[in-house]
Amino acid sequence: MLSALVLVALAALCAATFQPIGAPFLSPVTTAPGFAAQVIFSNLTAPRGIAFDDQDNLLVVERGLGVTAFTKTTQGGASGWERTVVISDPGFTHAIEVDGSSLFVSTASEVRLYKYDSATKTVSGSTVVVNGLPADGELTTHALLLYKPKTSATRSATVLFVGSGPLTNIDPTARDPASGRSQVRGFKLSTPGSALPQTWLSGELIAYGIRNPAGFAIPAVQLSAADARPGLFILENGASIDDVPGFTPKFVNDNPADELELVAGTGALGRAYGFPDCTTLWNPTADPVGNPQYVGLPQGAQFSLNLDPLRNDAWCGQQANNVPPSLSFQAHSVPLDIKFYEPGAVSSVTSFPTTYANDAFVSFRGSFNRDPPTGYGVVHVPFPITSPTQASPFIVQAADLSTCPGTCIRPVGLSFSKDGRLYVSSDSSRELFVVQRGPTFTVAPPGPTLTIPFPTPEAS
Ligand SMILES: *[C@@H]1O[C@H](CO)[C@@H](O)[C@H](O)[C@H]1NC(C)=O
Repeated sequence: MLSALVLVALAALCAATFQPIGAPFLSPVTTAPGFAAQVIFSNLTAPRGIAFDDQDNLLVVERGLGVTAFTKTTQGGASGWERTVVISDPGFTHAIEVDGSSLFVSTASEVRLYKYDSATKTVSGSTVVVNGLPADGELTTHALLLYKPKTSATRSATVLFVGSGPLTNIDPTARDPASGRSQVRGFKLSTPGSALPQTWLSGELIAYGIRNPAGFAIPAVQLSAADARPGLFILENGASIDDVPGFTPKFVNDNPADELELVAGTGALGRAYGFPDCTTLWNPTADPVGNPQYVGLPQGAQFSLNLDPLRNDAWCGQQANNVPPSLSFQAHSVPLDIKFYEPGAVSSVTSFPTTYANDAFVSFRGSFNRDPPTGYGVVHVPFPITSPTQASPFIVQAADLSTCPGTCIRPVGLSFSKDGRLYVSSDSSRELFVVQRGPTFTVAPPGPTLTIPFPTPEAS
């Protein structure tokens, strides 16, 4: 009896399932003019990070289940997608990176490297690459970014960036980089196998004081004529400040901003980005009566949560203590992934327009604690960023925010296919979908050419 059950379970695990194109969204979405969105698979187990392998299979971390692969195919004359289980392991939390036969995933406490075969969509053997990640905090998803410089594709230049979240919503221990909390570290993968695992604190400190570094990206183009090195962009989920003394419910409904941080330029590594003491103003007039002290300040201004009298607004205004964000997002957006659009080898009428080349796209999972709800979509961040408060228009969003969270899309992972379409995972609606150019897209006239302003590092 038991063995029969095991066999049934194994069969279910190994069996490929097929879903034809055309399933409806659980809740309707709207797209920006000229774009269209389509479900490609339904009823997943909390899909989080996604990545294409070199055979155009879309690999997905299904949190609580493992890693699955989605392959475009036809069955009985219908075109659709086939799902197979690659790794069965409920410990994977969020992130996935794939590079040839190297498949990286993170659990709450470690980063693992699997040997992966994209032809068979199977793995053989795994190694722990990084261990000792803080696994006991509120946020145990550890974002990953594998960076291989395009100019010198030598193995020695490959870096794996890994993020860690806070112990608590507002975590005073994160002031000390040695806490290992709320920071990003880089691990050189020059000699795989020889000195693994590397411990979390042995990684090079890239940035700290970033509450939950949820997603990373490095643009393909250099940031400015003066700086030949690429910069690392890091999404930060701002703290909920509902319980911090001094702020009214009306104020915290629209503050603080979520942030896009940038690590770039001389002396950029290992700097503090403000958490837990300093944060970013989104709406200065959210409560002119209860919190009038912010009314005269601009959106994007840095302010103190006054957790410590010495770390006040003036302290937060100094870049040596707190590097300000490169861009602010609407409070409670919950940005989780960022991808730059680099037009691929294949171009078709459904590819994103080339005018969007080198622009970024950011998933906003959305927050339950704002009235009315916000997020529940994917935004377009035009590059270069010309102002830290420039607008980030939605390219796809839940059609009726008043019904969210409900069964609304809650975008998490993003990945561009070779043919320039944007794939998106939505965890609580359990969907994978794609956003592509529709037949009515019209190309906007080109804007002025501007260079990226980024925080000027101070001598240290
Ligand atoms: C997803 O699961 C629900 C409930 O089992 C089912 O009604 C629905 O048809 C499934 N969706 C697809 C596209 O298979």
